[in-house]
Amino acid sequence: MLYQYCYLSTAPELSRDQVEAILASSARNNPANGITGLLVYNGRNFLQILEGEEKALVSLMARIAKDPRHTGISYLDRRTIKQRSCPDWNMKRVVISEDVEKRREMLDAELPETMDPGLRTIIMNFAVLN
Ligand SMILES: Cc1cc2nc3c(=O)[nH]c(=O)nc-3n(C[C@H](O)[C@H](O)[C@H](O)COP(=O)(O)O)c2cc1C
Repeated sequence: MLYQYCYLSTAPELSRDQVEAILASSARNNPANGITGLLVYNGRNFLQILEGEEKALVSLMARIAKDPRHTGISYLDRRTIKQRSCPDWNMKRVVISEDVEKRREMLDAELPETMDPGLRTIIMNFAVLN
């Protein structure tokens, strides 16, 4: 059965390179484990969506939870899904525009149309935080 996790964590001062390194690990590992999702970083917090078989997600979360680059993992949602919201992304970095006005517009263009509307709302709300 497919699951989807959505969590927040805290990482006050990661450089662009550090975030890129996380994306590189994801690109390296997620395809083999059937994991898809997206990662948003706003300079203080991560929001991550992970989708895949439960065993793969539990094992990945065990690694992610021990990662010293962030703390305070807090789940917003863990549910079974019939289809993936991010089927084409082994881990998509969603970039938040500097311009608050433009953020919704940019995300609207970037997030897949097939994405679950509730999930879309969570991502939008996170992205407009300052
Ligand atoms: C916010 C956050 C999200 C992460 N997401 C993933 C992920 O989706 N896939 C993954 O393999 N590692 C992810 N990592 C990195 C893991 O914690 C771990 O460092 C990595 O999987 C180790 O694998 P590697 O030796 O191939 O780099 C994430 C780390 C952080 C801080």
